[in-house]
Amino acid sequence: MIEQTTIKKLSETSNLTDIELKELLENDFLDEELYREADRVRKENYGTDVYIRGLIEFTNYCKNNCYYCGLRYENREIERYRLSKEDILNCCNEGYNLGFRTFVLQGGEDPFYTDEKLCDIISSIKNLYSDIAVTLSIGEKKDESYLAFKKAGADRYLLRHETANENHYSKLHPANMSLANRKNCLKTLKKLGYQIGSGFMVGSPFQTTENIIEDIRFLQELSPDMIGIGPYITHHNTPFKNQKNGDVKLTLKLISILRLMFPYALLPATTALGTLSPNGRELGLKVGANVVMPNLSPKNVRKKYEIYENKICTGEESAQCKRCLERRIESIGYKIIISKGDVKRK
Ligand code: SAM
Ligand code: SF4
Ligand code: FES
Repeated sequence: MIEQTTIKKLSETSNLTDIELKELLENDFLDEELYREADRVRKENYGTDVYIRGLIEFTNYCKNNCYYCGLRYENREIERYRLSKEDILNCCNEGYNLGFRTFVLQGGEDPFYTDEKLCDIISSIKNLYSDIAVTLSIGEKKDESYLAFKKAGADRYLLRHETANENHYSKLHPANMSLANRKNCLKTLKKLGYQIGSGFMVGSPFQTTENIIEDIRFLQELSPDMIGIGPYITHHNTPFKNQKNGDVKLTLKLISILRLMFPYALLPATTALGTLSPNGRELGLKVGANVVMPNLSPKNVRKKYEIYENKICTGEESAQCKRCLERRIESIGYKIIISKGDVKRK
């Protein structure tokens, strides 16, 4: 039976047993207290500050075939695009003027962008601004590529592990992808000195409570700087087209649990959360999240980066995405700050 003392224990020790975690995840009558405690710990570590990351979705080509993702290679309906170095630098320029101090280059695994091309893009951004961080989110690469990007100036890398359970991993990915390789990539990135982010989708097909607990245990082992979780959202042109979306409440609960287990961490309130619930990102920020990642991609490509359906911030309204978010965030008593927004580990 889940009790208030369980939340107290989670907050004081940043840990729970598997049985306690399962009870917490599967019962909702103490959710409000969990949320309150997570917000208290968030404020203790980060005050009401919200860090922003400018997301530049620079290619929607992907050689992989993850069963859940709309960018997958076998989706022939999607109109593919690539941004030039100049396009990317223009996004950064616009973003810098708006107050962004982190740029996240995200894309499918696209061999068009060789290491040489990527290093040139990374070092060009770094040479233009002295007070920014470059984050990469471009999937699994060779160790030497990760090293080259680091030398070119990349600071951070986001690579969600997606699920820490082998069997579940094989239900979400084709046989040529493996959890072992994913984990190795994360290990290498950490060794090379990147600030790393990992995470998983909440409610991905076939996910069980036990899988989520394994995800949490894996994250405890990895100790990443950032943990990105968001609900799984179905895309009509994938093998999972008949699967149901992840649950917003479970996502919020997990954000709170992660805040209490990783008080120092950077936890984004994701676009996926905002897609499934009109105030999803605000709710995420109120229960422990402290990062948002507005879109900085050129307006004419935003709709084409359709990893899942009905993604927000892709239409006309998105021109002023940062201002819109600023208003939303202020309305709930938090504030966007102009900062690189490094992790605060004690
Ligand atoms: N290709 C890189 C990779 O896979 O790491 C970066 C881009 S990928 C689109 C970024 C993240 O989107 C993935 O890590 C995955 O968790 C998430 N994602 C993919 N399909 C999704 C879906 N249908 N619903 C919610 N999130 C999804
Ligand atoms: Fe490609 Fe990433 Fe989508 Fe997998 S999740 S298909 S690697 S873009
Ligand atoms: Fe993106 Fe409102 S936050 S348009």
